Amino acid sequence: MLRHFKPSFFSQYLINSYRQFIHRHFSADQLRTFIEENTEVVRGQSLTPQIKLRLMTPSCRFWTEKPELWPFQDPYWAIYWPGGQALSRYLLDNTSVCQGKTVLDLGSGCGASAIAAGLSGASRVVANDIDPVAAVATTMNCELNGLKSVVCVTDNLIGSELEGFDLMLLGDMFYDESLATSLHCWLSRCIKLHRTKVLIGDPGRAQFESHTIRTLLRLEATFDLPKSVREENYGLTGSSVWSFHPELSG
Ligand SMILES: C[S@@+](CC[C@H](N)C(=O)[O-])C[C@H]1O[C@@H](n2cnc3c(N)ncnc32)[C@H](O)[C@@H]1O
Repeated sequence: MLRHFKPSFFSQYLINSYRQFIHRHFSADQLRTFIEENTEVVRGQSLTPQIKLRLMTPSCRFWTEKPELWPFQDPYWAIYWPGGQALSRYLLDNTSVCQGKTVLDLGSGCGASAIAAGLSGASRVVANDIDPVAAVATTMNCELNGLKSVVCVTDNLIGSELEGFDLMLLGDMFYDESLATSLHCWLSRCIKLHRTKVLIGDPGRAQFESHTIRTLLRLEATFDLPKSVREENYGLTGSSVWSFHPELSG
């Protein structure tokens, strides 16, 4: 199943319908049990071996199972994406970036970058993902890493008035052109109004490299991807962290 998976952009209507579906049909305990039964605890096969995560691996049933038997939206949260890996590695290597800061991990997926921010001394960490199953997976991953204080939020925050965050993290969020354009406008506003610092992790996806935002970014770090990550992400060899500076547009 996972081999054929390609991320796509959710519309607001689909986001709301999906959230209602999950809340009506599954309790948090049922979601936890499902995640436990269909993932494996992994460490050491990413850029951040100190972070343990529940992910879908070749030994999990749905790695090869028919996709139509999967009861939820595509499991973005069951993968540790190369963009998130670079971002998390960068935070762990440069703890002053998060130390004492309020941090939002937008599109948090498995929650690894939120966990890296928490481990690096952030004063408050919010993990935001529109997929309610991702929120449960993130809570479980935080517990695996001894972090109790990360708050999970499933509202679509893009376009909202967002105050109170010093730093915003976006790991592998530029995989779709319309999502990238919404993020570009909204992040520019957050920086202008609230001086939020924005860090983006991306492995050089075509949608990212060709987008206007790319000309307004400063390179902070580049990492070679481990062999297993390269094999799972055909054609990708490295992943970089960028800071966003909309003022560069003049
Ligand atoms: C490619 S995954 C990246 C996950 C994680 N940041 C990482 O690097 O491992 C993108 C994530 O963004 C989430 N997402 C998509 N649109 C979103 C939105 N408008 N607000 C919050 N999360 C969103 C998806 O559900 C998915 O979990």
